Amino acid sequence: MSDNRASLPIPPQSALERSARLLAQLRAALHGAGGWLPFDAYMQQALYAPGLGYYTGQADQFGDFGSSSDFVTAPELTPLFGRAVAAQVAQAMDLAGTRRVVEFGAGTGALAAQLLGELAGRGCAPEEYVIVELSGALKHRQMETIRTRAPELADRVRWWTALPESFDAVVVGNEVLDAMPVKLLRRGESGWLERGVGQDGDDLVWIDRPTPLAPPDPEAGALPAGTVTEIHPQALAFIRTLAERLDRGVALFLDYGFPQHEYYHPQRHMGTLRAHYRHRALDDVLLWPGLVDITAHVDFTAIALAAQDAGLDVLGYTSQANFLLNCGLLDLLAQDFVAGPPPAAPESAAAICATLDAPASSLYLRQTAAVNKLLGESEMGELFKVIALGRGIAAPLRGFARGDRTHTL
Ligand SMILES: C[S@@+](CC[C@H](N)C(=O)[O-])C[C@H]1O[C@@H](n2cnc3c(N)ncnc32)[C@H](O)[C@@H]1O
Repeated sequence: MSDNRASLPIPPQSALERSARLLAQLRAALHGAGGWLPFDAYMQQALYAPGLGYYTGQADQFGDFGSSSDFVTAPELTPLFGRAVAAQVAQAMDLAGTRRVVEFGAGTGALAAQLLGELAGRGCAPEEYVIVELSGALKHRQMETIRTRAPELADRVRWWTALPESFDAVVVGNEVLDAMPVKLLRRGESGWLERGVGQDGDDLVWIDRPTPLAPPDPEAGALPAGTVTEIHPQALAFIRTLAERLDRGVALFLDYGFPQHEYYHPQRHMGTLRAHYRHRALDDVLLWPGLVDITAHVDFTAIALAAQDAGLDVLGYTSQANFLLNCGLLDLLAQDFVAGPPPAAPESAAAICATLDAPASSLYLRQTAAVNKLLGESEMGELFKVIALGRGIAAPLRGFARGDRTHTL
């Protein structure tokens, strides 16, 4: 964690100018609202203000470490991620009797290209691959990615600007729920306060106001004064809308987060809201509006309850590591490099490399490192979870065959 602005790479002048324009808009909104904006309204503008928000004003947020990007998501790490997820999508399409995939928040389009390629390879290419994306800048990047990485299937891809009243599909969303604006709450001496944004001279500052809002976990009433945490009305409204309209199908959401009893645990008294800039996590989420990502962890209990209340079944909940292993990630890794059955022992990496030429061995080692990151307990394997929601699905999903934790929600 670093909040020392002096140690951060300074954004280019053009980006600072874009941020200044967004700041002027935010100041006007603050003025119009009597000097206080609830944090979710601030976050909405900072991420999605047309042409100026973090996701709407640029398209180079994602990428490798060391580049000018801000963070790396699983499909950017290795195509094996999307190929493993495809195993679950293929089974879910069969169970739901649909040949449509709907992906929310497709980022660069990497996951879409991976899913299309792998599903085609398995002989079950979707008839329609729909992307729902808030950012016009990213939509163009997605088109380009699909055109170059899955050209033979590009004519099956379309973009929806709104959900139809009723549809069947296998829905996928990787790191989308965490990008939805949250409300901030602070525990005062005698109850909860809603934390919003105000101005002190030229600076944006926190202003807390009394509120009837409270975290959904009854245990949160015992959290000490000074605790700052989040609630997720926008993500829950999104799940309710999806539940109302998904006539038949499965929805898979992969993201970092916890069940409620962990989310509102006293040890997490600083909340989970963070900004990301050039691969650093910052506590100062008001820094350079529109130039830093802002994100909060997902309350998976609230997601499951919202889905259930709206008529969906919770089909599974587990760690990303369990899910990807159940989907055959290690077999996919071995398939690309090993002739014959996959080796049983991890130490056989050196033996595998010995059978490969230099470029293949270097690729194998890169893929192994990426797989370790996806599965590692202290990396993405345990913090990231997968939840499956659905309607009209009778059989168990393969991604949750071992290690289902639905009972912990
Ligand atoms: C952290 S990025 C993840 C991108 C991509 N899924 C990946 O894994 O690389 C979040 C994405 O969700 C999109 N997004 C956020 N809220 C959305 C919504 N309600 N509907 C569709 N897309 C949304 C953003 O524009 C962005 O593309």
